[in-house]
Amino acid sequence: MGNKISKTPKKSISLPSTNTQEDSDFRYIEGRRYHNVENVKYPLPNDDEELDRLHQQHFLLRYVWQRNFGAPVKHILNQDGTKVLDVGCGAGSWIFEMASNYPNTQFTGLDISPIQPSEIKPKNVNFVIANVLNTLPFENDTFDYIFQRLLFIALPKDSWPVVINELTRVLKPGGYLELMEINPIPFQLGPVSSQLFIAVEKMLQLRDLDPQIPYKLRSYFEQQGNLENVTEEKNRLLFGPETGKLGQAAIENTRLGLFHAKPSLLEVIKISSEEYDNNLDIIAKELHEFDSYSDSYCVYARKK
Ligand SMILES: C[S@@+](CC[C@H](N)C(=O)[O-])C[C@H]1O[C@@H](n2cnc3c(N)ncnc32)[C@H](O)[C@@H]1O
Repeated sequence: MGNKISKTPKKSISLPSTNTQEDSDFRYIEGRRYHNVENVKYPLPNDDEELDRLHQQHFLLRYVWQRNFGAPVKHILNQDGTKVLDVGCGAGSWIFEMASNYPNTQFTGLDISPIQPSEIKPKNVNFVIANVLNTLPFENDTFDYIFQRLLFIALPKDSWPVVINELTRVLKPGGYLELMEINPIPFQLGPVSSQLFIAVEKMLQLRDLDPQIPYKLRSYFEQQGNLENVTEEKNRLLFGPETGKLGQAAIENTRLGLFHAKPSLLEVIKISSEEYDNNLDIIAKELHEFDSYSDSYCVYARKK
């Protein structure tokens, strides 16, 4: 992520805490704001530009999947006192929409950074600042439903089974765990896109992150031992001409993501910042022309 780090030194977060912002929660590199948690490999910034991108991505995924969740939990969400956890909740896009759809359910969003609105939020939402790589600040059997989306870019390769174990610990028996991931390397790429996505793969691997995680979730769930009725669903995020405005929105979101990841990617591909920006314009065209697509996987299961 470059080396022009300013502001306060890194700190370890104390658990649990609410999402009130302090200067030491962040570090700033070349004008962009990042998390400040030691040992967390998440390479994206968390400033307003990136939070806007996450919101757009949420609407995109909801459209692609035609839903906000796949697990059979609608009946639970309509009951008083149901507790839901959203892990790595980001800007809170999913949780805010769910909280307004299911006002009797209590939603908790968990993230390493206090980037969620703390003043204006529904009464049935609270946020906890914590690291999912540590023991979570919740008792055994706390939640009826746990949702986690797009942490391929945050969790080390070998940590997935451990995280799934920890999420299962805080899930009530009979409750559901649901993980949704995307393969960040699209298929059917043009020449410039191929080069850049090779760099994306390399950057993730250097950080010990796993772009292949969507394909491994089902077997991790099956191996956990305390999860049953494991269900895997697949979808595709299409960039080609036949998807019209949706494809254009997907391309724009991907282009923005690549722009926000520029500092980490320039560490891997040795080109100038200007050349990188030009390539992003070419990539946007190629994704459309080559009918590129990304795999999206959703896996859910019930705790025994
Ligand atoms: C790509 S964003 C996804 C946000 C949200 N799940 C969504 O789908 O819109 C990943 C989020 O995970 C958070 N994160 C990264 N590492 C984490 C960790 N170890 N524990 C908790 N949250 C983490 C980041 O701060 C970021 O908000």
